[in-house]
Amino acid sequence: MDTSTRPSAPKLTCRAAPPETFVIPSVHLFDPQHGVDLVGDLLVEEGKIAGWGDALRAPEKVEILDDLAGCWVFPGFVDPHAHLRTPGHEYKEDLTSGPLAAAAGGYVAVVAMANTDPVADCGPVAAWILDEAAREAVVRVGQVGAVSRGLKGEELAEIRELADAGVVAFSDDGRPIADADLLLQALRYTRGIGRPLLIHLENRSLSVDGVMHEGRWSARLGLRGVPAACESGPLARDLEIVRYVDAEQKRQGGTRGGVVAGVAAASGGGAVSSGPPAAAVPLIHFQHLSAAASVRLVRQAKAEGLPITVEATPHHLLLTDELLTGFDQNLKVNPPIRSAEDRAALVAALADGTVDCIGTDHAPHAPQEKEVPIEDALFGTTGLETAFAALHTGLVLTGQLSLERLVEAMSGAPCRVLGLAEPRLEEGAPADFCVVDLEERWRVAPETLRGKSRNCAFLGETLTGRVRLTVADGARRFARARGED
Ligand code: DOR
Repeated sequence: MDTSTRPSAPKLTCRAAPPETFVIPSVHLFDPQHGVDLVGDLLVEEGKIAGWGDALRAPEKVEILDDLAGCWVFPGFVDPHAHLRTPGHEYKEDLTSGPLAAAAGGYVAVVAMANTDPVADCGPVAAWILDEAAREAVVRVGQVGAVSRGLKGEELAEIRELADAGVVAFSDDGRPIADADLLLQALRYTRGIGRPLLIHLENRSLSVDGVMHEGRWSARLGLRGVPAACESGPLARDLEIVRYVDAEQKRQGGTRGGVVAGVAAASGGGAVSSGPPAAAVPLIHFQHLSAAASVRLVRQAKAEGLPITVEATPHHLLLTDELLTGFDQNLKVNPPIRSAEDRAALVAALADGTVDCIGTDHAPHAPQEKEVPIEDALFGTTGLETAFAALHTGLVLTGQLSLERLVEAMSGAPCRVLGLAEPRLEEGAPADFCVVDLEERWRVAPETLRGKSRNCAFLGETLTGRVRLTVADGARRFARARGED
């Protein structure tokens, strides 16, 4: 495997759409990361943010989207962790339905995991997915390449070939990398090409046939539990390996480079954004953190300066194991929804930046895989369409998290993890934003969802905050009228 020269930038692809021109009057423009917090009209011209304020010089006969007055405009959300199930499991989701679900949730880009069939463990499979997305997807899709061939955890996948095909990162997500030497070798390759490893932490000799968090609720319900050490144990090992690789790199005088592909790039992919260079990507990004013990380890590692980042999912940030008393299969996820103490630790870590960003782990499954006894149900909940509204309702409106931090954790932060240019509300920037009614209340019902699968952990909940418009790559990709399902 040749890692001597830098591969081209990661590709994020979606269906091309003609760049649009329109005005959205009287909206709250909110991009605190980039110093924007004001009420005014927003002009999009030829697919770019052309200006805002009261004295806009809009072209004559410009289209005016006046049913969005009073809404908030955020830089578009970016999901570093979704399962779009293509190729091989299109009955659960495909490259039309998944990106549509993403757009309905305010996302302008979504990164797809490699646990497909065939596995995305070589260049041609990754290239095929990205080509397919360029035909089908309404918002950009980035692809993750597998770390190991066939996700078997035995030998490395075609890392260099995958990088050349344009993958954003590498991950065996859904499965842990149990072999420490394989992890070490993978890090030595990926650090050279400036792309992060996304790690699913799980000690499989502890998770076995576990259905839920091991604690008093699993004991009461008689369901096999998965202890928190199932996650924190491998985390401690991986941090030790990061420490070793980081020290090795420093001795060799190497630097980890940011790759600066565009979330804000052209739909054809490969184009480099005009945005400022991204900082160096982490060596490892830990996915879907669930346990307080893991949060403690991450906090120490970050204080020490280790090059790691972390994500948490809406379901781990909002739900607790006690809810499993209803035997709802949609709450069966991997890692499991944990105790109230674990949840509180995760929320505090998101608020103080120990948890860098939100990843949905959008994991669609068909009814025949979910509507079975909970022991037999597959792990996973969908998340793209409910992430913002659920977190806004459960954390922001309850005073546990600022709106500023939520927006940042769903937009700029995941881009920094992946070395992508951040969507921003800035004159001249590509139009990549979502428009949200922060007051609209809606009930998560199967018929409100645009994705193919209905296994959502928040089904039946009433949420506050509704995405009304998503503009990606300079064009409207999803719109919903006030009060429309
Ligand atoms: O709940 C999950 N579902 N967790 C994972 O890590 C994988 C995912 C899936 O692929 O269904």
